[in-house]
Amino acid sequence: MIRKNSKIFVAGHNGLVGSAILRLLKLKGYKNIITANRKKLDLLDQKKVFSFLKLKKPKFIFLAAAKVGGIYSNNKYKANFIYENLMIQSNIIHSAYKNGIKELIFLGSSCVYPKFAKQPIKEKYLLSGELEKTNDAYALAKIAGIKMCESYNEQYKTKYKCLMPTNTFGPNDNYDKLNSHFIPALIRKIYEIEKFDKKKLILWGNGKTKREVIFVDDIADACIYFMNKNTKHHLINIGTGKEYSILDYAKLFLKALIPQKKIKISFMKKNLNGTPRKVLDVSLARKYGWKSKTKLVDALKYTYKNLNKINFK
Ligand SMILES: NC(=O)c1ccc[n+]([C@@H]2O[C@H](COP(=O)([O-])OP(=O)(O)OC[C@H]3O[C@@H](n4cnc5c(N)ncnc54)[C@H](OP(=O)(O)O)[C@@H]3O)[C@@H](O)[C@H]2O)c1
Repeated sequence: MIRKNSKIFVAGHNGLVGSAILRLLKLKGYKNIITANRKKLDLLDQKKVFSFLKLKKPKFIFLAAAKVGGIYSNNKYKANFIYENLMIQSNIIHSAYKNGIKELIFLGSSCVYPKFAKQPIKEKYLLSGELEKTNDAYALAKIAGIKMCESYNEQYKTKYKCLMPTNTFGPNDNYDKLNSHFIPALIRKIYEIEKFDKKKLILWGNGKTKREVIFVDDIADACIYFMNKNTKHHLINIGTGKEYSILDYAKLFLKALIPQKKIKISFMKKNLNGTPRKVLDVSLARKYGWKSKTKLVDALKYTYKNLNKINFK
């Protein structure tokens, strides 16, 4: 159980998920939070990570640092994705164990389940089939992190948990034209339609691919909830359990954000589509008493209002 003065390390506190965890911890009155940006602590450096944890001795770690990107960069920079993720998570998880830190939440992702997993995806489907080719390097690294947590729990009696969130969005997202996920990419396109008075929204792929999305503050809420919860399971899906096509999202977003404009939607069909369908079975999280709270339209309007255009590279 985290106490208000427990020492907590949030790794990746400037990122989308890490910054949401940090915000919520502060809001809930946790006072002893430690962070270190990349300049101060490069998580690829095993010795530095070990020394940092030895010196600071946090009792709880939220591991939200990772090399993350959308379909384009996952496919193009596979070597970076597999190397950096294996290193970051191995350095933190192993050093945590070595320094007697028993409580850690590792962020996995719904995109590491098999490409053709039965839907909705249950936790037990992990490793039950072929991975999506465009992000297999990232997925394999993440799966290794999950197996590491499981193995350390079995052998060293740690209580490391892996949360598996679905696609997310919110403040501090990455809006890069090539490297972002589909929700921030869509938000950026709508912002540019509004700003430059464009008449057309062009979507990558055929628009039929189905996805589930969750507001990042709900993921942060799940992270803190499950850090405080004794669970038999170490792997828990975090989502809403609802899915819509990319085209449905596009229509919904246009209506919610710029209802005054008439926009034509078209498709760049030669672009990658990714896994055809991806919706999580969230019954395990619900059994433990957690469910997502924020309505999609509310989260979207909030994110749009607080867009940080500095991230518009
Ligand atoms: N975004 C999603 O849709 C989504 C969905 C499901 C699960 N997740 C999971 O949630 C976790 C966080 O994702 P995110 O979207 O929050 O990613 P993000 O916004 O890119 O944040 C990642 C953070 O990790 C830090 N980091 C990366 N390499 C580092 C290094 N070598 N040393 C120190 N810090 C380093 C980054 O620091 P800098 O600020 O210096 O770059 C950044 O603050 C990941 O494990 C991801 O798999 C994300």
